[in-house]
Amino acid sequence: MKIFTSPEQMGEWSNARHREGKTIALVPTMGCLHDGHLSLIDKAKEYADLVIVSIFVNPMQFGPGEDLDAYPRQLEIDCSLIKSRGADLIFAPAETDIYDSSFQTCISITKLASGLCGANRPGHFDGVATVVTKLFNITRPDFAVFGQKDFQQLAIITQLVKDLNIPLQVIGSPIVRETDGLAMSSRNKYLVGEERQTALCLSQSIARAKELVRDLAVPQDVTEIIVEVKTIIAASGATVEYAEIVDRKTLVSQQQIDSNSIIVVAAKIGGHVRLIDNSILQ
Ligand code: PAF
Repeated sequence: MKIFTSPEQMGEWSNARHREGKTIALVPTMGCLHDGHLSLIDKAKEYADLVIVSIFVNPMQFGPGEDLDAYPRQLEIDCSLIKSRGADLIFAPAETDIYDSSFQTCISITKLASGLCGANRPGHFDGVATVVTKLFNITRPDFAVFGQKDFQQLAIITQLVKDLNIPLQVIGSPIVRETDGLAMSSRNKYLVGEERQTALCLSQSIARAKELVRDLAVPQDVTEIIVEVKTIIAASGATVEYAEIVDRKTLVSQQQIDSNSIIVVAAKIGGHVRLIDNSILQ
């Protein structure tokens, strides 16, 4: 398994594979891989001949007081997981390989980044958009695969690729859940003791919302559903950051459910672990 740290070496490898007529898919990650990430590798293999997994904990997408320093890092374990899942190459640059001392560019998405996680994490999506654009330019993939758990991120990157005419196809891959419903996330590692049980409030509140959508009279008013979702999260002891029903393309809040409705929730568990989850409603 090749591991490149140098952007130049990485780009040369991709150019050479393209010259051989091979297609390439990129799975961008910040490491600390779980089955959700590994399912992205499987998805990437459905689309391309070769799969690159990038591992880079991107400082630009962490705000002041967020968990950049604490973010779990386990490069050796990640490399063996990636190898056993059948990816072809790992790109694991150092921070200075991505941001040298003269770095000063920022890619900023406006409307799609303004609400939900964007409203609660100022600058986060600028950091994501900038690093993802750099990763695309360095690895030169034909496809890039992102998890649907980070739904707003996926919408933003899809828009970014369209707006900047980046020649690749963005693929969304379904959320992978633990058997009890908790959406897999690298941040689940922070959950201690009873917090693991409390964290189920996200998937449980979403399941309840889906039940209500099925059972309530039509046309459905979202207010009642959102009140119930927030009540379930609060009753578990977690703190709701947001719970909204939005249009899956525009991420604009909806008052009535339709075929584009998606429920998105974010909550803090035990006052320190911020988790997100979502589901299409119909
Ligand atoms: O979803 C993530 O892990 C990160 O936001 C990404 C896309 C790898 C960019 O740093």
